[in-house]
Amino acid sequence: MKELINIVIVGHVDHGKSTLVGRLLYDTNSLPTDKYEKVKRICREQGKAFEYAFLLDAFEEEQKQGITIDVARIRFSTKRRDYVIIDTPGHKEFLKNMFSGASSADIGILLIDAAEGVQEQSKQHAYLLHLLGIEHIIVVINKMDLVEHSRKVFTQIKREYAAYAKTLSLTIKAFVPVVAQSGCNIFKRHKKMQWYKGHTVCELLDAVYLKKHIEKRPLRIFVQDIYKFDQKRIIAGRIESGEIHVGDEILFSPGNRVGRVKSIEVWPSSKKKKISAHNGESIALTLESQLFVERGQILSHAEHPPYLANEFEATMFWLGNEPLQRMQGYHLRLGTQDVECRIEKIKTIISAGGDYSSGGEHINRYDAAEIIIKTKKPIAFDDFSTIQETGRFVIIDHHVVSGGGRALLGAYPNLRESGNDVIKSKNISWHFSKVTNEERQLRYKHKGAVIWLTGLSGSGKSTIATELEKKLFNKGIHVFVLDGDNIRHGLNANLGFSPDDRAENIRRIGEVAKLFAEAGFIVITAFISPYTSGRDMMRKRVGEKFIEVYLNCPLSVCEKRDSKGLYKKARAGELQEFTGISAPYESPQHPEILIRTDTMSIEKSVQRIVAYLKKKSIAMQHTAVD
Ligand code: ADX
Repeated sequence: MKELINIVIVGHVDHGKSTLVGRLLYDTNSLPTDKYEKVKRICREQGKAFEYAFLLDAFEEEQKQGITIDVARIRFSTKRRDYVIIDTPGHKEFLKNMFSGASSADIGILLIDAAEGVQEQSKQHAYLLHLLGIEHIIVVINKMDLVEHSRKVFTQIKREYAAYAKTLSLTIKAFVPVVAQSGCNIFKRHKKMQWYKGHTVCELLDAVYLKKHIEKRPLRIFVQDIYKFDQKRIIAGRIESGEIHVGDEILFSPGNRVGRVKSIEVWPSSKKKKISAHNGESIALTLESQLFVERGQILSHAEHPPYLANEFEATMFWLGNEPLQRMQGYHLRLGTQDVECRIEKIKTIISAGGDYSSGGEHINRYDAAEIIIKTKKPIAFDDFSTIQETGRFVIIDHHVVSGGGRALLGAYPNLRESGNDVIKSKNISWHFSKVTNEERQLRYKHKGAVIWLTGLSGSGKSTIATELEKKLFNKGIHVFVLDGDNIRHGLNANLGFSPDDRAENIRRIGEVAKLFAEAGFIVITAFISPYTSGRDMMRKRVGEKFIEVYLNCPLSVCEKRDSKGLYKKARAGELQEFTGISAPYESPQHPEILIRTDTMSIEKSVQRIVAYLKKKSIAMQHTAVD
């Protein structure tokens, strides 16, 4: 398979951008066969001189009729590679796409009009490429015919531009004098510019080596959508970096949920099964177990997670009509993540002309700045220098992309990585107790444990929990119930029933339960805990003290019981996201104890759990538990 390279062509429209693109398509035979003839014929009919730019117009027109694409993606191929020109007409659109990563360009072609020379805008374009950290830049000096193919003019522009690029530490691969309209030095050389001994544009493109194609980079996928087909949930996204294989353990950040890849889907299903995919591919995958996954998350391998933070350093560029104000609310979009944010600190401002000033309260249009940004919720990202695709972001002001930038570790070298654990500072330590587990057990005559009851609303969790508590307490056991409804009055009063809130609910309860168990208590939790991921996470955190008890009761029975009248409300549409009705319940696959509460009495159910505690020597023999 040929390499796929993304190119962005930067330059004023009048400098011949469309002509250059039209010519690239034509010279590399990348146009549909009849296109050239057709455009020529139309020109003849309309009495216009043929221009290569018309080819592009016709091409774009045709693309528009297909599925909607937010960026015109024009393809051409050389013998060595496939190229995609990522570009949209119009300055603003283009900048927006550059920053949003809609166009993650590998190579930048900067176009300058030989007759006009280096303009302020050409400088801005270089500046942009610098901020975006595009590694490979080729400067194409077009319309050389207008300056009589003059070597002197070319050298003068080259010198001036190179000097400017140097102030930005921008390395330019090559300067090429061209006449896009006639194709000179695009694909073929031309006798009028024999003084030029360098490569043609196509040769230069083909000669660029991309780090990302050589180095193995960590896996990064932006989750774009989740589709439900029958029972199947398909996660769609584009691989921005790295490779993914069926069977890989993968992490979704933020959220820190871990799953295993079951399949990489192919269409039609009769096609050969796909077992891996890599950088640049858009894929659809399924997981072995159902996880709550949502648009915006970054998928990685668990051992190489992105960073997760709500405060980080960045360099950014502002395009908004109104200056960006420090401490004002904006939105930050990174990949498919979208969070509220504000600029906490403006460290330095660099004007488009290259002047530095330190500090400030606002960033003017076209100024760049080094900043510290704070987001309302943690976001997953990478340092731009490591993975560009997950290191760049845009800032949205009143629904308009008004700026963008790249994330740096900078002032936060110890930024925490996303992972199995929730966000945790690296600057904390652990203090050991002077009382051992064994000492507690000897005193209490039983071990600590977490009895995790899970099941639908109405399956009997609270009833069984309180009965069990009473029974154990009467036997001298240190026992306590953590109940969903109760905890949601206090500790978790700020949580609702969205999948994320439920996950956080379970995480907090799990942590509290773990502390109780460490203190030597037997703690009984009564939460719906509908997601396997949440329960599994807590099992991992609590370890062998975790006992999952699945109170299995058919929905119809729970609904009939409806002790709180909530099923009725949910059916009437007065209660959203109600488990079993409008929100899922993922049944435990391997609970330690399964009780059918529609057929087993409360008394018997409690006995089952007690028997288990005895069997596992949690409540020891000499405590008369029966
Ligand atoms: S969990 O899903 O996050 O584990 P939890 O057990 O804490 O839920 O809370 C469930 C209790 O909240 C139910 O017993 C019910 O009384 C109440 N409740 C209110 N709204 C909902 C809802 N949309 N879905 C489920 N339970 C709800």
